[in-house]
Amino acid sequence: MPQRKLFVTTALPYANGKFHIGHIMEYIQADIWVRHQRMQGSQVHFVCADDAHGAPIMIAAEKAGKTPQAFVAEIAAGRRPYLDGFHIAFDNWHSTDGPENHVLAQQIYRDLKAAGLIATRTIEQFFDPQKNMFLPDRFIKGECPNCHAKDQYGDNCEVCSKVYSPTDLVNPYSALSGATPVLKTSEHFFFRLSDPRCLAFLRQWTASGAVQPEVLNKISEWLEPDAEGKVAMGDWDISRDAPYFGIEIPDAPGKYFYVWLDAPVGYLASLKNLLDRTGGDYAAYVADPAVEQVHFIGKDIITFHTLFWPAMLHFSGRKVPSKVCVHGFLTVNGGEKMSKSRGTGLDPLKYLSLGMNPEWLRYYLAAKLNGRNEDIDFNPEDFMARVNADLVGKYVNIASRAAKFVPGGALAEGPALAALDAASLADSVRALYESRDYARALREVMAAADIVNTAFDAAAPWKLAKEGQGQRAAEVGSWCLQMFKLLTACLKPVLPALAAQAEAFLQCAPLDWDNAATPLPAGHAVGSYQHLMQRVDAKLLEALFEPPAAAAPAAPTAATAAGGSVPGGEALAPEITIDDFTKVDLRIAKIVACEKVEGSTKLLRLTLDAGEGRHRNVFSGIASAYAPEQLVGKLTVMVANLAPRKMKFGVSEGMVLAASHADDKGAGIYVLEPVAGAQPGMRVR
Ligand code: MSP
Ligand code: ZN
Repeated sequence: MPQRKLFVTTALPYANGKFHIGHIMEYIQADIWVRHQRMQGSQVHFVCADDAHGAPIMIAAEKAGKTPQAFVAEIAAGRRPYLDGFHIAFDNWHSTDGPENHVLAQQIYRDLKAAGLIATRTIEQFFDPQKNMFLPDRFIKGECPNCHAKDQYGDNCEVCSKVYSPTDLVNPYSALSGATPVLKTSEHFFFRLSDPRCLAFLRQWTASGAVQPEVLNKISEWLEPDAEGKVAMGDWDISRDAPYFGIEIPDAPGKYFYVWLDAPVGYLASLKNLLDRTGGDYAAYVADPAVEQVHFIGKDIITFHTLFWPAMLHFSGRKVPSKVCVHGFLTVNGGEKMSKSRGTGLDPLKYLSLGMNPEWLRYYLAAKLNGRNEDIDFNPEDFMARVNADLVGKYVNIASRAAKFVPGGALAEGPALAALDAASLADSVRALYESRDYARALREVMAAADIVNTAFDAAAPWKLAKEGQGQRAAEVGSWCLQMFKLLTACLKPVLPALAAQAEAFLQCAPLDWDNAATPLPAGHAVGSYQHLMQRVDAKLLEALFEPPAAAAPAAPTAATAAGGSVPGGEALAPEITIDDFTKVDLRIAKIVACEKVEGSTKLLRLTLDAGEGRHRNVFSGIASAYAPEQLVGKLTVMVANLAPRKMKFGVSEGMVLAASHADDKGAGIYVLEPVAGAQPGMRVR
């Protein structure tokens, strides 16, 4: 086979947070494929970058009191330990804010414009008069027009699931300032994806085998005409108004590319940065028809990669992707949701810092990945069983048992102990890696390991050695080591470090798909066997999932003692009696007024009506979570018999109740609100 040239990427992670285990899964999936390619002599450029731009990052940086550049640089500086730790061998890590990306994105835009595919249109959008900026949908909140749930996002209601546009919200407010947004017009730039040329190209490209069948099925909805002959694909709004952290649109002062326009261009920018640094020729490389461009992405960003991005490339006169490989989502412990702020209980860095072997995770995830767009779950018991029973119990076991019977390490030639066709196993496993069905590849390898172990047991070399048949025992051990070499080659894309150790033990050349099935010559001396891999200890998994708060030397409670998780990040308070509880008089109170407290960033001043014929003045440390306007008119729960407390800003005559996680005292505070029907003054019991 001629040497293939591959340009491989994973999705560019937003530079607004650390990696979570879902990111690591994507990188491991791609890394395995790349290592497999390198084992068959393909020349690979494997790159990634931080996705630096966009309003959320700009706003997060502002909150952190940093420039967006400094903010994303800090995130970027934290990437290494994850990548090195899990043996993810990108050739380059760049940023979409790098100079290459500015130049490339602007050039692609100019080319699309020259092709007649850029249009401008005036649109009406919500504007925050206090912040002086247009508000992205997720920064507009208000009452759902359908079910009237409060505090819903601008695009859909989390209570009744209704989808609407921000202008439909009742009493909209800016999540940034609390101000009431005003409608303002602005000129936006559009990529004319509904142009017949684009539709024709996309129908052809999507059906060319570049995407999985289940993905094609999904995206066809955008391209196939409905009963009235209409297609769903509309033009794509690619501009945003200043202030925005992004790339300026040429000849359009104050206009920036929407982050999703320049993000995929970041693939090319990272490649260019790599080639420029290593003496390559970027222009020649991207024009080379032999180069295959392959993207690994998750199912949530399919349309960007299979519709917008190929069209951007094609109509700017560039080569299109050869393959977009879509994976499902990783969940932990049966569906625990991966939250961008908190991640899950499975923190990749904690995994490493506990000394857990990164190749356990690589093996486990590979055993679940089948190349289709399907979700997979990390289950701790399953993890331990697969690694211990299969990886250590079957594969590693072969070397540790067989080595003893090969005196001086010199391999003896003898008959095969079982019908195991090395060449056909290697071919089959190689093809399965190619199609990203790692799960089946590993099943085939483990089935072969079973055959070897069974043959070893049947031959019973320990008996042979005792019966004075040392030569026969050496032949048995040698055959098993030959098979161990074959299996090592088959596992090498998944277990690069273990394979390197095994190669050192076998004293053989680096294993690849060419030499995988070739036996080592008779008389070849292997080294002395050192144990290759530990088993997973259940204690490690317990420590991995132990919430950080429980690690503090707090008094153990029923929940922690039973090994359960700690609710809300803190141990339960000591037990009380009902009499203790009734000492606290809780009442429903109406928030009749609310205002910021001058001189305090934490406090809001609430005026409460608890049906007493007078108002109470209460200070509450909730200013980071609520704009005063959000609370006015709401009912809440107040501690009514708390001794008045004199504070710097006045006397506080009670306390309102709010929920928060132990380690989040910032925006994650939730004031309690009774179900509709409660009246001010009612006691809560
Ligand atoms: N910045 C965009 C991608 C731009 S690509 C030009 C983005 N970033 S992300 O950080 O939200 O996601 C990066 C990748 O991680 C995506 O492919 C996404 O699907 C993947 N995953 C995010 N959560 C995941 C899981 N829980 N499981 C597996 N992959 C997941 O989207
Ligand atoms: Zn609703």
